[in-house]
Amino acid sequence: MKNFLFLILIIMFTISCNSSKKDIAIAEGKTLESLQKENIEGLKLLQTHCYICHNPNAVSHDSLIAPPMAAVKMRYKMSYDNQEGFVNAISKWVLDPTEEKAIMLGAVANFKVMSKLLYKEKDVKKIATFIYENELEQPEWFEAHQKEMHGNGKGMGVGIGRANRMNQ
Ligand code: HEC
Repeated sequence: MKNFLFLILIIMFTISCNSSKKDIAIAEGKTLESLQKENIEGLKLLQTHCYICHNPNAVSHDSLIAPPMAAVKMRYKMSYDNQEGFVNAISKWVLDPTEEKAIMLGAVANFKVMSKLLYKEKDVKKIATFIYENELEQPEWFEAHQKEMHGNGKGMGVGIGRANRMNQ
């Protein structure tokens, strides 16, 4: 019962934070339409620039050429729990991906390091913000795979330690 009340409190807190974030943006002169427009733009950029490789419709694990973006998001959220840190880390990565910077070590071993492609920083920031703020599409089999492979947390240990060290 106590846990349940605690959960409700957390949910209420999250909702109020979200709405105040929107209120602040509106107070800064942004309209609701402009916020929606930013969101749509972020999704379009994500679809055209990232989903070629981070495909949310991959039919199986074997057909992937990169981890689904939902997996990348989950991993980055473990290391960066606020929007600013998350958006910065993703942007830094995309603008210059190197093996030293990688925190998804399993993915690097499976797929090799992501190629450096030419993106505009402002587009990458929009994409990263969209990823942080929205629930992403993910392959149907992904959730089961995630539980099976990483459910005990062991598979992700090395990367997390490394990211935490990088943050210090
Ligand atoms: C040409 C294919 C390709 C494209 C396009 C691509 N990626 Fe990747 N990405 C990869 C591969 C392969 C990996 C897994 C290996 C790795 O982590 O470097 C990866 C990994 C990542 C990671 C995890 C890096 C880490 O810490 O290990 C992030 C974050 C990421 N991609 C973001 C993006 C975003 C955002 C876009 C679009 C702007 C994008 N990628 C476009 C192939 C791609």
